Amino acid sequence: MKAKGVHYTYMNQHPISDYLALAKRLAREAGMFALSAQKNELRIEVKTNEFDLVTHVDKHNEEFIRNEVAKIYPEHSFLGEEDGASGDGEVKWIVDPIDGTINFAHGLPIWCVSIGIEIAGELACGAIYDPNRDEMFWCEKGNGAYLNEERIYVSQVTDATRSLLVTGFPYNINTNPNKSIERFAAFLERGILVRRLGSAAIDLCYVACGRFDGFFEGSLSPWDTAAGALLVREAGGVITGYEGNDHSIYDKPIIASNGKLHNFILEVVQSVR
Ligand code: IPD
Ligand code: CA
Ligand code: CA
Repeated sequence: MKAKGVHYTYMNQHPISDYLALAKRLAREAGMFALSAQKNELRIEVKTNEFDLVTHVDKHNEEFIRNEVAKIYPEHSFLGEEDGASGDGEVKWIVDPIDGTINFAHGLPIWCVSIGIEIAGELACGAIYDPNRDEMFWCEKGNGAYLNEERIYVSQVTDATRSLLVTGFPYNINTNPNKSIERFAAFLERGILVRRLGSAAIDLCYVACGRFDGFFEGSLSPWDTAAGALLVREAGGVITGYEGNDHSIYDKPIIASNGKLHNFILEVVQSVR
């Protein structure tokens, strides 16, 4: 067992704390860039359908992070939402350059930059920066989850009627509803309070620090969850798929909770087939 405060170093690699420091710096710089770019007109294009947008800031941020990582660690691989995968190094940077693009495009201050790092297929650390609140969420495997300099933990709520949950919907909900609406309704019909913020990475951060007690969403991508899934685990929470299975960031459905409400959320999610 690893002693507290000791950082893993893999063979022929830098300490994870070096990667984490770079992830935090890049998430902050990209977040601040996006915040100031919002003062000017955004160039907006549609992606997979007319509801799925991308701005020039999403593209700029991803290119910026990709280039900065490549300057220091040219051997690392990279997976970004806008430009996809490159390289085959065992250290992989998984980046959502703006999570919550629709909010960002509308001037709604609920979005962030998310950077997760996998080493040999395992999440090692991550940073999620919300420039609107100057909140840096970060974590390192085995060393806990933090908001700025404070250690964070999931909530202790055990009673679902006292809980606050959050969910999200895919952009293709009109053509492939995937039972998201029915699952949302299943919670509401039981009187459970459920929000929809529009940034899965922020949803996960808020589960990790106890603002929410649980989160479920049916169709996410690795860049949405890489940093946030590790953050929730390091904050003492539980992450599974919709079947209660171990969650991989390459799976689409996710349930994240404070642990105590996990079975309840699973039951309600599974009540819709
Ligand atoms: C989206 C947000 C949203 C979630 C969607 C994601 P984007 O990411 O995380 O909350 O419901 O499923 O695609 O497009 O803003 O990066
Ligand atoms: Ca996203
Ligand atoms: Ca995005």
